[in-house]
Amino acid sequence: MSMTLIQEKDFGTKEIRAGADVTLKIDGFDVTVPEGTSVMRAAATIGLNIPKLCATDSLNSFGSCRLCLVEIEGRGGTPASCTTLVSPGMNVTTSNPRLRKLRKGVMELYISDHPLDCLTCSANGNCELQDAAGEVGLRDVRYGYQGDNHLDACKDTSNPYFDYDPSKCIVCSRCVRACEEVQGTFALTIDGRGFSSRVAAGQNEPFLSSECVSCGACVQACPTATLMEKKVVEIGQPEHSLVTTCAYCGVGCQFKAEMRGAELVRMVPYKDGKANRGHSCVKGRFAWGYANHRDRITKPMIREDINEPWRETTWEEALGRAASEFKRIQEKYGKGSLGGITSSRCTNEEAYLVQKLVRAGFGNNNVDTCARVCHSPTGFGLSSAFGTSAGTQDFDSVEQCDVMLVIGANPTDGHPVFASRMKKRLRAGAKLIVIDPRRTDLVRTPHIEAQYHLPVKPGTNVALLTAMGHVIVTENLVNDAFVRERCDLAEFHEWAEFVLEPENSPEAVEKITGVPAEDIRGAARLYATGGNAAIYYGLGVTEHSQGTTTVMAIANLAMATGNIGRPGVGVNPLRGQNNVQGSCDMGSFPHELPGYRHISDAAVRDEFSKLWGVTVDPEPGLRINNMLDAAVEGTFKGLYIQGEDIAQSDPDTKHVTAGLEAMECVIIQDIFLNETANYAHIFLPGTTFLEKDGTFTNAERRINRVRRVMPPLPGLADWEVTLKLADALGVDIGTYAHPGEVMDEIAALTPTFAGVSYKRLDELGSVQWPCNEAAPEGMPIMHEAGFKRGLGRFIVTEYIPT
Ligand code: SF4
Ligand code: SF4
Ligand code: SF4
Ligand code: FES
Repeated sequence: MSMTLIQEKDFGTKEIRAGADVTLKIDGFDVTVPEGTSVMRAAATIGLNIPKLCATDSLNSFGSCRLCLVEIEGRGGTPASCTTLVSPGMNVTTSNPRLRKLRKGVMELYISDHPLDCLTCSANGNCELQDAAGEVGLRDVRYGYQGDNHLDACKDTSNPYFDYDPSKCIVCSRCVRACEEVQGTFALTIDGRGFSSRVAAGQNEPFLSSECVSCGACVQACPTATLMEKKVVEIGQPEHSLVTTCAYCGVGCQFKAEMRGAELVRMVPYKDGKANRGHSCVKGRFAWGYANHRDRITKPMIREDINEPWRETTWEEALGRAASEFKRIQEKYGKGSLGGITSSRCTNEEAYLVQKLVRAGFGNNNVDTCARVCHSPTGFGLSSAFGTSAGTQDFDSVEQCDVMLVIGANPTDGHPVFASRMKKRLRAGAKLIVIDPRRTDLVRTPHIEAQYHLPVKPGTNVALLTAMGHVIVTENLVNDAFVRERCDLAEFHEWAEFVLEPENSPEAVEKITGVPAEDIRGAARLYATGGNAAIYYGLGVTEHSQGTTTVMAIANLAMATGNIGRPGVGVNPLRGQNNVQGSCDMGSFPHELPGYRHISDAAVRDEFSKLWGVTVDPEPGLRINNMLDAAVEGTFKGLYIQGEDIAQSDPDTKHVTAGLEAMECVIIQDIFLNETANYAHIFLPGTTFLEKDGTFTNAERRINRVRRVMPPLPGLADWEVTLKLADALGVDIGTYAHPGEVMDEIAALTPTFAGVSYKRLDELGSVQWPCNEAAPEGMPIMHEAGFKRGLGRFIVTEYIPT
């Protein structure tokens, strides 16, 4: 494999996707681009790179540096190519003696107030100012360096991840614009006028005490070393990179992991990442230090008893012990005494292999996943209503949304990159309804104010959403045509009768939810009549005993108003962990095989039995809580947990720990000694996303590649450990040279994944399932022509007080 540093071309100004073709001449070459494109971008598309400093293609053009001047036939002066749009028949010259002289003059002024320490500068070799000086052929500076300058300006090193060195600032405002346009935090300004103007954070304070959230967009936008990652200062410029996917949240941002040797230098958001489009949050960009943290466990460990200290050992001994214990347990207590838990942190391939080990190796269906406590209501609720256990839209869809209804989610904290996209759309005029007991950031943030904030009492989501349904039906706001064509009419009428009941009126529900009836009415009207309306929801909806009913109530509202099946609308769960969607897709539930196919379906079981060479048990297995119940009762004795911390994250901790304590062999596979490891007998060291290949599936059903950029610290990646455990147990769950071969098997067995392969993912960058013969490039928007289940299903959502 050859190592290269991936360089993404900067076209200077944003891509215009729609618009009539315009043909013009640049330096004698014909160029055709969409109307609205800048001259700079048009030139860049044919490889003519006009020098620039204040322009970059992630930001709106600004026209301040005057380096990109061009001549246009028939026009006087030398307009800036970044702010001049193409027009038909235009004849542009990008380089001649006059332009070169002008550019040199501009560069001279910049350089006369810039420290000439290129050789020792952290940006050396990767500095746009340095490049521009070369491009314009600057050889000398006439003014000397003695006059007034900023060379003594003090550094601000307060931010833990990047430094600000004002002595190097060329006041191009790219950072200020990135913070506004891309991130939407508005933490930066240009303070002062003329010569004394400088970038300032907050009220001219250190970055750390300002409202900066350390997303790093300004650092990425800065063309000089003024804003620079501390890691680059420490390690040096990266020399090779691979594109991979963030392992934190369900947004699924793609990054270039930039390395020097085997050391990660920085994570740079990938412009072609379809979920993040070149942006990231603090977590993905900067918070990867855990990968090399001294607390990482990198050697297998065993102990006889959970009260004994751990003893480090070899893989051979640890896996041998795991196998002999599991075999002993099954011989003594029966086939059903073992189970496994897959992880929403690990890859699809790893989750698939764990459930396969349970089904084909243990011979039962005792497999579950941490999504049990977060988004299983999404799976059940949406599959009941629409026929598919997933969100209906891609993230791009938000750009066409007119009304956003955000319920039980705090995207600026939980899903920051998507929140930035939401904020951008809201600043452009979309309306906002927030249903949340808390006044989350989104309710009021720079240039955004929610039209409605409904501070619902915790546990009363169902009542509130049903009351919104009441308003929609009583005020004739139902989209009759959509309901008649797309939904089960009898069920709709049953639902309409139910929402009409007086106890579901906003006035009655006000007493339950604490939300004024008028606000419920106003929000319902806005949602139903404001144009394209999309619902975004999070764990405030699902992590509750009424989670499934709330998801159904959300689906009812979307169907009643026809807000399904086109861009800008839909029902969008914001997934918590990076691979919640994927771990559910991979058959991690005790009653479902990969692709959400019920275990009781004999034809489906047959397919798996044939390919796996075993007989798949037709009985659904135990969920996590049932495993723990059975452990306390004495019938469940051994558990293999990959990348999950049930003692920390599951409800009723006492019950969880009592169950774990009652087991005879608990195997933990993780990167740190987590809480659950306190109850374990065998610890198998795990790997981070940087150390393995695979895929994660984000909240938009987007399958993104995870690429190994460094060797696994424990010697084996997680998927290899599961295979070795199967080997030690003497069970055959397949031979795979690479996780890509696991994906081939998933594709062969899962109709929604039939067209997915690593080759396809490499070609397309990513793909949103379903990806099969009917949708070879995946499906960004679901249910366009009809619901997967046929007719959309309205479900009566009775409110039951908590
Ligand atoms: S790190 Fe992000 S939030 Fe902070 S100043 Fe830069 S762009 Fe703004
Ligand atoms: S800090 Fe960087 S991006 Fe910001 S104005 Fe200065 S040189 Fe430009
Ligand atoms: S938004 Fe989520 S996926 Fe993106 S960088 Fe942040 S934590 Fe990672
Ligand atoms: S790049 Fe056009 S004015 Fe700066």
